[in-house]
Amino acid sequence: MKGLTDTYTLSNGVKVPCVGFGTWKMPEEIASASVKCAISSGYRHIDTAAAYQNEYYVGKGIKESGIPRNEIFLVSKLPNDDHGYEKAIASCEASLKRLGTDYLDAYLIHWPVLIQNVDRLEEDLCETWRALERLYNDGKLRSIGTSNFLEEHIDLLKRNFSVYPMINQVQMHPQNPQEEMVAYCRENNILPEAWSPLIQGQAFKREELIGLSEKYGVSVAQLCVRFIVQKGAVPIPKSTTPERIKNNADVFSFEISEEDMKEIASLKKYGMIGDPPSVPRTHQVVGF
Ligand SMILES: NC(=O)c1ccc[n+]([C@@H]2O[C@H](COP(=O)([O-])OP(=O)(O)OC[C@H]3O[C@@H](n4cnc5c(N)ncnc54)[C@H](OP(=O)(O)O)[C@@H]3O)[C@@H](O)[C@H]2O)c1
Repeated sequence: MKGLTDTYTLSNGVKVPCVGFGTWKMPEEIASASVKCAISSGYRHIDTAAAYQNEYYVGKGIKESGIPRNEIFLVSKLPNDDHGYEKAIASCEASLKRLGTDYLDAYLIHWPVLIQNVDRLEEDLCETWRALERLYNDGKLRSIGTSNFLEEHIDLLKRNFSVYPMINQVQMHPQNPQEEMVAYCRENNILPEAWSPLIQGQAFKREELIGLSEKYGVSVAQLCVRFIVQKGAVPIPKSTTPERIKNNADVFSFEISEEDMKEIASLKKYGMIGDPPSVPRTHQVVGF
């Protein structure tokens, strides 16, 4: 990848800009201003979710950017409360309305295992996936995928459907480099996306990353974003600070050596943030 507008191609031929912009924990007008700043800084891939409660403002930011809608890759996610065929269709329609658009470039099931559906996981995921397929076939979604799915959850969809996830968005950063998931995605023609590539701010405290960023003459954030790019996944850094928004995207003029890539991945000794996706959730966890 040589720049922000370079793309990966999904299994259905849809092109995905190689760096996304995260919008979790961005309330109201901050979301509009940050999205506008990201687009003017060159980002063409914007990530939101119904659970972030900012879709209206993300859509507003896109409109005010002046860049045509069809040049932006816009992603949203189905909230945990809205699994099931009818509910998922209605929930996606509501997201489209809030975002002020008649299609999404990707729509992902946000979390696989819900407390209320733990005993009927296969049935729940199949009903929900069938809704996404319907929206895809109706042209409302250009691609469909999952978020926080483990291999076993994707395998379940593969067993039941001919169209299976084109994207899987997972927690991925130096402390959780996701080597196995990235390999699984490659084998199955699924694009991996990396949420919390800056470890939700924890990256800036890691001496190892500070040392390496000094070696390359870049910021810790640039090092983390570049790490994901070189792993072949789509990083989705979030910032509400204009200089950081620009800096986080400026990752195409240096290359991390193979040896240093290994050193960064050795931070897995510190572990992932929060629970693994096998832990059932409810709708109460806003943002996931
Ligand atoms: N699918 C999922 O379940 C899921 C879960 C979590 C996140 N996501 C997506 O992934 C995106 C990114 O993850 P995230 O928001 O959790 O965290 P992140 O991108 O890893 O880190 C964001 C934090 O880093 C700070 N930051 C950003 N750039 C910086 C820089 N250059 N220097 C210093 N600090 C910097 C931000 O502060 P400021 O904003 O103050 O600049 C913010 O506190 C989300 O916004 C969301 O779109 C998806």
